[in-house]
Amino acid sequence: SASESCSCSSSHFIHRSYSTSGSDPERKVAILGAAGGIGQPLSVLIKLNPLVSSLSLYDIAGTPGVAADVSHINTRAEVAGYAGEEQLGKALEGADVVIIPAGVPRKPGMTRDDLFNINAGIVKSLCTAIAKYCPNALVNMISNPVNSTVPIAAEVFKKAGTYDERKLFGVTTLDVVRAKTFYAGKGKVPVDGFNVPVVGGHAGITILPLFSQATPTADSLSDDDIKALTKRTQEGGTEVVEAKAGKGSATLSMAYAGAVFADACLKGLNGVPDIVECTFVQSNVTELPFFASKVRLGKNGVEEVLGLGPLSDFEKQGLESLIPELKASIEKGVKFAQAN
Ligand code: NAD
Ligand code: LMR
Repeated sequence: SASESCSCSSSHFIHRSYSTSGSDPERKVAILGAAGGIGQPLSVLIKLNPLVSSLSLYDIAGTPGVAADVSHINTRAEVAGYAGEEQLGKALEGADVVIIPAGVPRKPGMTRDDLFNINAGIVKSLCTAIAKYCPNALVNMISNPVNSTVPIAAEVFKKAGTYDERKLFGVTTLDVVRAKTFYAGKGKVPVDGFNVPVVGGHAGITILPLFSQATPTADSLSDDDIKALTKRTQEGGTEVVEAKAGKGSATLSMAYAGAVFADACLKGLNGVPDIVECTFVQSNVTELPFFASKVRLGKNGVEEVLGLGPLSDFEKQGLESLIPELKASIEKGVKFAQAN
């Protein structure tokens, strides 16, 4: 049914962006890493979301300028900038949703796992502060490697006694955004209203688009086309990293994807029914403790983790091959958090 398709909110997001209803509850969104390549355009997009009443922009530096700039946009959200660790508590207090795009991006030739050594520590310290200042917030983890940073966050929250598996999300929306764009383009179906789930994780072969469940389907596409579209979706991040040639990874499309996912979280919190997005969460869908699949969002975050549905033989194979890599990335995150 339409209610169980991914990113059903993405087109509504744009339509709603420039209107205000006046009756929506107060919601505070905090962005950690707000002065960065993702953080800046994401700050603009969240400022355009009428569901947000308070927007808190945190980074180690540069946020007063970003906040002053974004605050001039004539929409509902009140904007505040916070710079440096001593202001992190204030940035987080009262947050309903915390979005984390803090950390270093890839350069050509690197894997997302090559970012682990730097980003694991950043994520750990930010999550320690979340546990202290806004333990009930929904956490949208963007920092890579997502397959490991989400397990790190879970361990930090467990240690602090604040872990609620319904409130921790790895943001994999960009994989869905890419799968939609690539499939609709190649299959010549209208991209607006097109849906496809992407499951697994967020790195290389752990990204598994389920094109057999695409709606509508493009009859013109051959098995080889589906293979090529799968590979392009899995390598979408690398396509951007190479095109940027050392200047970082996806920032603009990621900001869009992050805004779509945060909007879905806010709608869920506000009690809007049938909000379903693909996201990397604690899961029983496979043998792995974390897995991305369709998730129904509600007033407490995850309301229901939906199953994978019927898979093609090609997708079954893809699922089998991704398990060892995803398992190792999850274990690496858990181990780091337990040792540090
Ligand atoms: P960037 O370097 O442009 O920005 C990162 C920002 O994080 C910088 O402003 C930096 O000052 C800040 N930062 C560093 N340490 C911090 C700390 N302790 N507290 C707060 N802020 C801190 O990088 P970017 O291009 O914005 O990418 C950020 C991260 O997002 C990278 O890890 C990248 O791999 C990841 N990413 C994920 C996805 C996804 O689909 N999940 C997509 C694109 C990028
Ligand atoms: C992406 O998918 O664009 C991000 O994970 C960034 C990257 O390193 O590819």
